[in-house]
Amino acid sequence: MRIDIITLLPELLHPFMQLGVCGRAIAAGAVAVECWNPRNYASPPHRIVDDRPFGGGSGMVLMAEPTLAAARAAQAANPDACPIYFTPRGTVLNDKLARELAQQAGLILLCGRYRGVDERAVTAFGGREISIGDYVLSGGEPAACVLLDAVLRHIPAVLGNANSAEEDAFADGLLDAPCYTRPAVFEDQPVPPVLLSGDHAAIKKWRRQQAEQMTAQRRPDLLKNK
Ligand code: ADE
Repeated sequence: MRIDIITLLPELLHPFMQLGVCGRAIAAGAVAVECWNPRNYASPPHRIVDDRPFGGGSGMVLMAEPTLAAARAAQAANPDACPIYFTPRGTVLNDKLARELAQQAGLILLCGRYRGVDERAVTAFGGREISIGDYVLSGGEPAACVLLDAVLRHIPAVLGNANSAEEDAFADGLLDAPCYTRPAVFEDQPVPPVLLSGDHAAIKKWRRQQAEQMTAQRRPDLLKNK
C-alpha cells in the first residue's frame, strides 16, 4: 500500500514512521510512505501557507492554493488512493473503518493545522472526513499516526502470525479479555487458574466470557452494534 501524507510538519511524522508497526510495515516492503509539505508549494520568498479567517475569529487557516497544490501532487503520485481529511467534524475512526481502509490500494492523508484548511481546498480534495475523537488537536498529524497504526496492523505481512490482528480487541466487536504473563503469582495475586490449565477450549471459553463481561460493563454501546 502506498500512503502519502500532506503535512506542514513532516518532522513530527518521521520518527513514528521509523518505529513500531509503521516501521515494520515499511521495512517489510508492505507499505511506502511519502510526505508532501504545502510550504514547498507556496510562493517564494516567504512561502506563506496560512492566513487569518475571513469574517474574523482566532487562529489561522491553511490557504487553499499551497494545500491543494501539495494534495494534487500526492494524488498524481498515488492515483488509486482513498483521500482522507482529518477534522473533528469527520466520522469517528473505529476498528471497522480501519479494516476497510486497510483494503484500499493507497491512502492520501491531509493534515490540517491551526484552525483548519480553507473549505474550498477541502471540497476540491474530495476526501473522506475522519476524526479520531471528540476533542480538538492542534493539527491532523497525531490523527495520521493513530490511523496508520490502526490500519497497518490489518495488512497481512505487517503483524505476522505471532501477533494476529484477529486476536485484537474489537476483532469480534468486543473489548479484549484481560491478559497475564509470568510470574504466575505477582504481589499475592495469582493468574486465573484456567490460563495455566493447558485446556485450550476452556481458555477460549473463559476469554470469551471475560470479553463479553468487560464489554457489557464498560462499553455497552458496542453490544448494540453487533
Ligand atoms: N484535527 C483536529 N482535531 C482533530 C480530531 N479530533 N481528529 C482528527 N483530526 C483533527
